[in-house]
Amino acid sequence: MSRILAVYGSPRREGNTAALLKQAVQGASDNGAQVEEIVLRDLKMSPCLEIYGCKKTGRCVINDDFQKVYDQILASHGLIIASPIFFYTVSAHIKILMDRCQSFWVKKYWIDKVPFGQGETKRKGLFISVAASKGKKLFDGALLSIQYFFDVLDTELWQSLLYRGIDFEGEIFKHPRHLDEAYEAGEAFAKELARISHEEF
Ligand SMILES: Cc1cc2nc3c(=O)[nH]c(=O)nc-3n(C[C@H](O)[C@H](O)[C@H](O)COP(=O)(O)O)c2cc1C
Repeated sequence: MSRILAVYGSPRREGNTAALLKQAVQGASDNGAQVEEIVLRDLKMSPCLEIYGCKKTGRCVINDDFQKVYDQILASHGLIIASPIFFYTVSAHIKILMDRCQSFWVKKYWIDKVPFGQGETKRKGLFISVAASKGKKLFDGALLSIQYFFDVLDTELWQSLLYRGIDFEGEIFKHPRHLDEAYEAGEAFAKELARISHEEF
């Protein structure tokens, strides 16, 4: 069975990205994936302190809730990250998670000495985001960060769901088509992971 880690990255528990992610989780669960959900706002996670304690083993030495998340990432076949756009990038909660994953970077490039930009794909990722405005470059910053983050985690960005012009809490419910798309993406994601699992996992 394929395992998915779903990461809620908004400070709003009932916000727009949370509603979309719930739909994706439902779609994936209904199609046989085992989904673990984490709500970052509820976790105690320090930002990276840049002490490079991870140099010895590749594991971050800060003892907080990241330790469990690290294991959950390692055990996953798929990651779904949901984040609102804050100042043209991901939320601070997601950014803290990304920075703590520098330990994966250290393991990959310094300890295992994988040549930069290489490494086998171990999992697939789905990114869900919402922003209030409508500019052309609205998601560019977040996508750059997510792509680089996924790369470090040996994760291929499989699909992005990006929605503009949605601001107030619950406003996403005025867009049932977006919610349906999120459910369908979760469905398709679970099917894709199941298909690959026969070949690789
Ligand atoms: C701190 C902060 C920064 C934001 N920055 C942007 C931004 O740069 N561009 C934008 O279009 N919307 C921005 N927004 C609006 C949110 O992206 C929007 O309200 C979104 O629907 C929130 O999603 P959520 O309910 O999942 O948290 C910002 C909101 C906050 C609170």
